[in-house]
Amino acid sequence: MKIKVNGKEIDVTGQNTLIEELRNIGYDIPSLCYDSGASHQASCMVCMVKNVANGQMIPSCSTFPQEGMNIETDTEEVLSLRRMSLELLLSDHRADCEAPCTVVCPARIDVAQVILHYDRGDKDKAYSLLASATDIDNLPCKDCKAPCEKACRRGTVDKCVSVRDMMMVLAEAKDLRVVEAKSVANVSKDVFSSKLGRYSDAEKEWLKEVYSQPSRCLHCACEGRDKCKLRQFSTNAGIKAPRYGVSSHQIVKEQIHVKGSLYFEPAKCIRCGLCVYNTNDGFTFKHRGFDMQVVIPEESKNNVDEKIADICPTGALFTV
Ligand code: SF4
Ligand code: SF4
Ligand code: SF4
Ligand code: FES
Repeated sequence: MKIKVNGKEIDVTGQNTLIEELRNIGYDIPSLCYDSGASHQASCMVCMVKNVANGQMIPSCSTFPQEGMNIETDTEEVLSLRRMSLELLLSDHRADCEAPCTVVCPARIDVAQVILHYDRGDKDKAYSLLASATDIDNLPCKDCKAPCEKACRRGTVDKCVSVRDMMMVLAEAKDLRVVEAKSVANVSKDVFSSKLGRYSDAEKEWLKEVYSQPSRCLHCACEGRDKCKLRQFSTNAGIKAPRYGVSSHQIVKEQIHVKGSLYFEPAKCIRCGLCVYNTNDGFTFKHRGFDMQVVIPEESKNNVDEKIADICPTGALFTV
């Protein structure tokens, strides 16, 4: 069968969905609720294309080609509809992509990651990250005004994390080894970065109780940021901040241990359903309409494979 794509006639078998046909010929069509080979139901609308033959916008992930179709994939009309779909998803998403302390560090130390490894008990890795970013024997923190502490989210709850002291104590711990761990904070202004906004009073109380380890760090950076398609497509669409504000009621920074190294952070879930449709008696939907949530019942946790994190298009499912 023949269809037109951006003015060019192409042959398609009719066996694959439009998104697959378009990707096969090199068009980079974004998708969040669709992952090749996985069960899905169209919901995110970031894969939209226009069929000029009848004037309709259609989700390419769940439409099969039909004779006479005349598809546009990259006009301003199509791109702005995709952008709006992303912005709507972002309006229900409360999270920081990057930790504020890392963003402002003039020495480009990945502060949040250093503290994360430290808190998890992997002090060698924490030391290595610090050593890879800076001269460990001549730590810049000594003479720094510590903008990390001014930016620290914990400071809006009670008192900021003593970042500078932590870095200096770590740098002087001569018993630690340099292991394979390298990272310099690479926070590019061109990359979309979700920002959390303010905590409610109830959240502050909850955070104090849950994040009560000696460092008191809230581990703000999103652990799924390197794989997150929501972030990637928002960057590609030129989105700087959610246009409609953020109205999520999910508890911020609630991390549910599913099993093994797999965690679920509901405030980052865009309810795409991929984890629901691709686990057997695992994740499930609760409530309907605006109140709909994805949940993992306690008794279903063992039915989930850790690999499910790979198809989650956000940092809502991640492994540590
Ligand atoms: S709470 Fe931790 S990760 Fe968040 S800004 Fe403060 S030091 Fe950084
Ligand atoms: S899920 Fe994606 S967009 Fe959300 S905070 Fe994580 S990296 Fe950023
Ligand atoms: S946890 Fe991930 S895969 Fe599951 S519904 Fe939320 S965003 Fe989709
Ligand atoms: S990828 Fe097509 S509707 Fe989500």
